[in-house]
Formats: sequence, C-alpha cells, structure tokens
Amino acid sequence: MPPRVDPPPDPPLALLAELTHRCPLACPYCSNPVNLERASAELSEEDWRRVLTEAAALGVLQVHFSGGEPMVRRELVALVGAASGLGLYSNLITSGTLGGAREIAALADAGLKHVQLSFQDVVADNADRIAGLAGAYERKTRFADAVRATGLPLTLNMVVHRQNLERVPDMIEMAHTLGARRVEIAHVQYYAWAFTNRAALLPTRQQLDDATRAVEAARQRLKGVLTIDYVVPDYHGRRPKSCMSGWGRQFLNVTPAGTAVPCHAAETLPGLAFPSVRTSSLSDIWYRSEAFNRFRGTDWMAEPCRSCERREIDWGGCRCQALLLAGDAGRTDPVCALSPDHGLVEAALQEAEQAPPAFVYRRFS
Ligand code: SF4
Ligand code: FES
Repeated sequence: MPPRVDPPPDPPLALLAELTHRCPLACPYCSNPVNLERASAELSEEDWRRVLTEAAALGVLQVHFSGGEPMVRRELVALVGAASGLGLYSNLITSGTLGGAREIAALADAGLKHVQLSFQDVVADNADRIAGLAGAYERKTRFADAVRATGLPLTLNMVVHRQNLERVPDMIEMAHTLGARRVEIAHVQYYAWAFTNRAALLPTRQQLDDATRAVEAARQRLKGVLTIDYVVPDYHGRRPKSCMSGWGRQFLNVTPAGTAVPCHAAETLPGLAFPSVRTSSLSDIWYRSEAFNRFRGTDWMAEPCRSCERREIDWGGCRCQALLLAGDAGRTDPVCALSPDHGLVEAALQEAEQAPPAFVYRRFS
C-alpha cells in the first residue's frame, strides 16, 4: 500500500454493510451492481464480526445493514448484537418482504436503533409490478405495522421516477398513516440498474415540478409531525450532488464478497484495484489504499472543477456518473451545466419525453 496521505482524512462516519445481493425483489433501479455477487462468495459471520470490530476501532459511528435484502442472512440478529456491543448505531435498510413481528422484535432486542423501509408505490398493483414480485406491497405494509409495534423509529423510503411520480402526495399521506417519523422521497439516481433503465425511469420536467410543489405543500402541512426529505434527480439540476459527501470522506461500503468501496458503483471504475476486507484492515483501506485516495479532496480535479468555487461543496459530483456518461471518471460530472459534456445529459432529458420502454429487472445473470 502507498504511504498514508498527509494530512490524513477524518475517520469514516458510516459503514454500509452489504450483507448479500440476494433479494426477493427485482427493482429496475437497484443500486447493486449489474454483476451481482452470489451467495457462495459472501463473507461469513466471523468475517463481518471482524469488520465491525475494525470499524468501531477506526471511529465509525453508524452501521447500515443493507443488501440486497439483509434479512436473507440468518446471522443478521447476531451481527446487530455485535454492532450494538461495540457501541455502533445500527440501521436496517430493508425491502420489508422477509420476516415479521418475531424477527423484528429479535432485532430490536439485539440493539437495532432504526429501520428504513422502501416502497415502490402506494398503488399495490403498480408497486408489485415495479418490484417484480406479486404481493410485495401487502408484505411491506404488514412489516411497517410490525416495526411500529416494537417502537423502533421507522423511515419510509419512497423511490420515485416517471412511473409513480404523480402519487407523491399519496406517498406522504401513507407515511403519515403508517406512523413513520420520516419519509424520504428519493428520485432514482442513474447508475447501475437504473442507468440500464434510464429511459423508463427519468421523469419529465413537468412531472418533477408537480412533485416538488407537492412536497413543499406537505412540508408546511405536516411541520413537526413528519419530516420529509426530498432527493431530486440530478439530471434536471444545474449542479451535481455531492455524491457520498465526497469520495472517501464519510462513507465506506463493504460488498457481500468483502470488497471495500467508497460508493455503490465504484467497482465499475476501470484501473482501480479495490481492496478486500479479507486481506486488508479497514484502517489500511481507509487511510492508505490507492482506491480510496484516488478521488479524495481536490488535487485530482481538472477544469472547470479545479478553479470552481463549489469544488469543496459538491467535490466535482459523481465519479461513477462521469464514467458512465463521459467515459472518464476523472472528468467533471456531466450533470454540471459547466461541464463540457453537459449535452449528454440534455440528450437524455429529451429521451424522457418519449414513451418509456419496458423495464429490465434486476436479476442474477
Ligand atoms: Fe461542481 Fe465542478 Fe461543476 Fe464546479 S464545475 S459546480 S466543482 S462539478
Ligand atoms: Fe460512485 Fe457517485 S456513485 S462516486
């Protein structure tokens, strides 16, 4: 490994523990890579316990148990217990289609602090169509009831796109009815499976403006009752998002097979060897690995980012989006209107005015 950079970065705030890529759903916007990792490649419980111990020693505060569907893993309760014993705040990111009251109570007893449950729509038929699983919506509403019965804080994550966006007001109402304290209305971000399905998912400008107005009105009406987070699709913006709050600044993801990456889609970046937790410590990975240092800070930037006043606000946008759109992870994110590649985004927005094609569902190849 190369020498530690000077000054060293702060420790990571959060570990995203992707326990598995297995999932009963087949959402066409899944953030897992298109080449999914199979069960035979997954880290063992012992491996994950070591990762959690190293994360706590490194200064990580939160662990997000995710997937795929993390409830596929029988060891989940034990791992939540281990995280809790190490003083880590643990969050479960789930589709809510496996397990019920007994499993959720066991997780709460083990020290789980929060549940984030995703919904595909508020209309059951369309929700099940998007999820690629009949009955998924019904299972999710039962799961939400079971979470509420334990008293665990619940955030609903409504993933929105052109095929459900007009129902944002109903989604907020449903979150309120299900007893959520927070709802996240999160537009799909276009990498991994969502990039494959972009023409089916990218909303029109009119749809987006209507949804934004609905969110603003609901925020006024439900002030102090329900917190509404709203993540807009950056293709429609003028400046990019600060993806992962900057490369290697706050987040460390570990994939089911043990590869450590700074973001969901990083493994698509060519020329970077991402280290494995099987052979490297989290400390070496975070502070010394070439992959985590490659796009840290601002030294790697070219113009227009290099001299831009927002370079330490959005960190040049998303490296994976730059690769997908412009073919080079080192370029300015084409979503930025200052990027010489911004025309690629405008062309995609034109596509969004056409009839959407059929979904390509997330499946193991
Ligand atoms: Fe951000 Fe670079 Fe665009 Fe400036 S030029 S707003 S730093 S992406
Ligand atoms: Fe990889 Fe944005 S998803 S940097």
